[in-house]
Amino acid sequence: MTAENLTSGRIQIAMGLQDVVVDESKICFIDGKLPKLLYYGYNILELAENCSYEEIVHLLLKGKLPTKAELAAISKELIEARGLPADVLDTIRKAPKSSIPMDVLRTAVSQLALTDPKPNDDTPEGRYRKAIRLTALFPEIVAADYRARRGLDAVKNNPRLGHAANFMWLLHGKEAGPFVVKTMDVALVLHAEHSFNASTFTARVIAATLSDMYSAVTGAIGALKGPLHGGANEGVIKTLLEIGDASKVEPWILEKTKDKGFRLMGFGHRVYKALDPRAVVLKKYSEKSGKEAGITKWFEMSVKIEEMMKTREKPLYPNVDFYSASTYYTMGLPPEIFTPIFAVSRVAGWCAHVIEQQSHNRLIRPDCAYTGAMDVPFVPIDKR
Ligand code: CMC
Repeated sequence: MTAENLTSGRIQIAMGLQDVVVDESKICFIDGKLPKLLYYGYNILELAENCSYEEIVHLLLKGKLPTKAELAAISKELIEARGLPADVLDTIRKAPKSSIPMDVLRTAVSQLALTDPKPNDDTPEGRYRKAIRLTALFPEIVAADYRARRGLDAVKNNPRLGHAANFMWLLHGKEAGPFVVKTMDVALVLHAEHSFNASTFTARVIAATLSDMYSAVTGAIGALKGPLHGGANEGVIKTLLEIGDASKVEPWILEKTKDKGFRLMGFGHRVYKALDPRAVVLKKYSEKSGKEAGITKWFEMSVKIEEMMKTREKPLYPNVDFYSASTYYTMGLPPEIFTPIFAVSRVAGWCAHVIEQQSHNRLIRPDCAYTGAMDVPFVPIDKR
């Protein structure tokens, strides 16, 4: 399509694909105005309070909440799929200390394909096996990298522990208390799925070429890393640290928002035009974590920022990344691991979408309005 089509009004550009419906999906429903978020029809608020991450993995990959027997079966599959291949562990250990954890995760996940004897198995069983393997191994990659940066060896999995508890075990080499494990489990449930967001759409675009799940998930990690997407949670804690104190919130926000181009990380959303329901839950956990750890400062500062942003002429509301930042930081987790934690959870959603995409596939290939030069006379290299 040429620019002529554009100027004549025959076509309209949907910048950022806003409001463009590209496919149907049964996995996730979002109503940004209410607001409401459902995984396979179930309200996120109920799932977050009542389900473990393993139940959500079952829901996303099998389309239904598990019975007790089904939960035991999928938990066993996830435990049996643990165990990072030695080569991948070696890559993580050898990564430069200056590297970004999301880059290490992306590289390690890509390498997982090389350690899978059947990386391109496209049978339903093959796709499910790869989804379980990826979901099981993400916490190990993130934790091994976290420890390697601190000069520590990777810790072996604890088969007695579920997904969230084992993740905390892998990070710290000791069992976390029940509140910390519950908080991590809730965070994993809340981040697991979110319809056609940028990283999931990336995964679907790759899957739609009939490429494999490792490629789709590797690409999705690259998309999640960006500060406008999953990278925002790290941006939020950097903001809180830069402000430093609740008394400085107001002057800091007033000064920063003078600049029209300023973006406050953890605020605004393409779909939600009111408070993100995931932020409602995380706000509670941020407060509880603060009380539990005896550090309420980051929560109090966050509430102050939220109050200021919602009473502006053009109100902005927190998204999932806002209160997750103060929650993780109060749990003693360092900022550079925040976005990898998002990935540890979202991998199940990505895999569910790859499976759905390939179940009724059509190549995803949009068009653009060409605004470049036309029919330029060719000039040989020695005459240019
Ligand atoms: N800070 C300041 N102004 C903002 C922000 C923000 N965080 N978000 C939106 N706006 C303003 C923006 O300046 C624009 O104003 P105007 O109409 O006057 O030009 C208006 O709101 C609409 O913004 P937009 O950029 O057109 O909205 P979008 O749908 O393209 O972008 C977004 C959505 C999430 C990229 C954006 O809100 C943003 O940059 N937020 C900060 C980064 C962030 O928190 N990302 C995490 C998203 S949720 C979790 C996830 O999926 O990863």
